[in-house]
Amino acid sequence: MDISKFTRFIIFLALFVFFFSCLSSTEAYDPLDPNGNITIKWDIMQWTPDGYVAVVTIYNFQKYRHIQAPGWTLGWSWAKKEVIWSMVGGQATEQGDCSRFKGNIPHCCKKNPAIVDLLPGTPYNMQIANCCKGGVLNSLIQDPSTASSSFQLSVGAAGTSNKTVRVPKNFTLKAPGPGYTCGIAKVVRPSKFASQDGRRTTQALMTWNVTCTYSQFLAQKTPSCCVSLSSFYNDTIVNCPTCACGCQNNIAQPGSCVEGDSPYFASAINRLDKTSSAPIVQCTSHMCPIRVHWHVKLNYKEYWRTKITVTNFNYQMNYSQWNLVIQHPNFDNLTQIFSFNYNSLTPYGNINDTAMLWGIKYYNDLLIEAGPYGNVQSELLFKKDLSTFTFDKGWAFPRRVYFNGDNCVMPPPDSYPWLPNASIRTKSPMLLPIIVFLAAFWCLSFGYGR
Ligand SMILES: *[C@@H]1O[C@H](CO)[C@@H](O)[C@H](O)[C@H]1NC(C)=O
Ligand SMILES: *[C@@H]1O[C@H](CO)[C@@H](O)[C@H](O)[C@H]1NC(C)=O
Ligand SMILES: *[C@@H]1O[C@H](CO)[C@@H](O)[C@H](O)[C@H]1NC(C)=O
Ligand SMILES: *[C@@H]1O[C@H](CO)[C@@H](O)[C@H](O)[C@H]1NC(C)=O
Ligand SMILES: *[C@@H]1O[C@H](CO)[C@@H](O)[C@H](O)[C@H]1NC(C)=O
Ligand SMILES: *[C@@H]1O[C@H](CO)[C@@H](O)[C@H](O)[C@H]1NC(C)=O
Ligand SMILES: *[C@@H]1O[C@H](CO)[C@@H](O)[C@H](O)[C@H]1NC(C)=O
Ligand SMILES: *[C@@H]1O[C@H](CO)[C@@H](O)[C@H](O)[C@H]1NC(C)=O
Ligand SMILES: *[C@@H]1O[C@H](CO)[C@@H](O)[C@H](O)[C@H]1NC(C)=O
Repeated sequence: MDISKFTRFIIFLALFVFFFSCLSSTEAYDPLDPNGNITIKWDIMQWTPDGYVAVVTIYNFQKYRHIQAPGWTLGWSWAKKEVIWSMVGGQATEQGDCSRFKGNIPHCCKKNPAIVDLLPGTPYNMQIANCCKGGVLNSLIQDPSTASSSFQLSVGAAGTSNKTVRVPKNFTLKAPGPGYTCGIAKVVRPSKFASQDGRRTTQALMTWNVTCTYSQFLAQKTPSCCVSLSSFYNDTIVNCPTCACGCQNNIAQPGSCVEGDSPYFASAINRLDKTSSAPIVQCTSHMCPIRVHWHVKLNYKEYWRTKITVTNFNYQMNYSQWNLVIQHPNFDNLTQIFSFNYNSLTPYGNINDTAMLWGIKYYNDLLIEAGPYGNVQSELLFKKDLSTFTFDKGWAFPRRVYFNGDNCVMPPPDSYPWLPNASIRTKSPMLLPIIVFLAAFWCLSFGYGR
């Protein structure tokens, strides 16, 4: 082992350790949406002889993370021996053991009930206002009017006044997998409700709030998307990193992916279990269900143009209300965007380099399952700021990309398409210390940013 190999080994080790310490410290903190949370508000509307009637509302206060089908599941532990007599606008997944009851049988007797939303089109007598969305919550920026959902429950064997009632414990929120951690329920000032004409205000008898926050680390998901790059000035298409989301292994695990051109393709697709939520992806070198491609398309005197294509490789999923978050320094001079909605996420005040993009309702807000229609596209026109603009050193490519709130795997920076003859690329080991330095900087500024 010569000295430079040894140095590289040490640096690699350092990077590795750094990366993992960094990951564990980013828990429940998202630098692009530091206040993002899901708040559950529990309003007691009426005391009953043996308990109360409450309306529970789930608010998604996250800028770009949403809950898609099959939707949320909310759970908690009752503090005493409470039961749910009845529910409207939601239901407990299991009734549990109600054998201690005679005559009237409760809706749910479990100590740890798990509640799911009802589906759209539920009969009117089982609905309440703002219910029955199949557990889907939009993100706050995409559509605040569909970012919350309510259900009503009638609780028995419970306290019957604000002195004797006990708040439930151990709230859990699945969306539908893990990722959210909920705090304890806090009694807050009772909610107020304005009447339709705004001339009268009523209020809840008692209210408590629970806040749940998301952590990609807790969700422990393998990456679900990757980024590929190309440009007009270089023929090279930089594909997603190999095995970015998993490795192709149809021999050891037959059926882990589907060959798009196999003669058995059609029958394989027909055999898919459309009710399971595990992705069944097309066989690719990256095995990601989603690929985001960024193509630097044109260079004008004062402007430049880029094209974004999001491709779905998942045969099992139509992504409704999908969104992208992209960081690039030129977003502060975005001049025009075609076919997508745009909003600026400005986490650092005057630094305006992060954009949220999403589909236009009824046009391309549904990213169809893998196949000929499984993609959405847009073009962006940026105004050049001549003091910073360059095609050199991969500047024209995005720094970070998220799909539906999950970080997409980027190709390594040294593989980006280079300007012809602009690259003075030596195999200098100096590159590695620079990467380590950048990784350290990234950790310090984002990971420990709280
Ligand atoms: C949850 O989000 C709301 C809206 O952004 C914010 O007002 C509130 O402070 C957040 N709660 C916590 C505990 O972070
Ligand atoms: C309980 O209700 C009484 C009035 O009925 C009120 O004075 C008191 O502040 C309430 N306590 C809480 C914790 O809401
Ligand atoms: C809540 O969770 C904690 C830790 O998981 C457990 O020790 C406790 O018993 C739970 N409380 C109830 C009421 O289930
Ligand atoms: C409780 O949650 C509701 C709805 O999100 C919010 O309006 C209210 O400010 C919260 N109360 C506190 C004290 O956080
Ligand atoms: C996706 O949507 C299309 C058209 O709405 C539908 O035909 C197809 O069955 C859906 N696929 C899945 C996996 O839900
Ligand atoms: C960020 O940049 C966009 C596009 O140029 C602009 O429309 C928006 O007003 C900017 N936002 C802020 C806070 O500067
Ligand atoms: C780009 O945007 C920044 C911040 O909004 C502004 O200061 C700068 O003048 C803009 N540059 C051009 C070329 O418009
Ligand atoms: C295009 O970029 C690649 C790096 O991805 C580089 O190896 C290649 O030499 C470049 N092509 C030209 C013509 O400069
Ligand atoms: C790159 O440089 C070489 C010699 O330095 C020259 O022959 C070649 O034409 C250049 N290529 C381009 C695309 O400019």
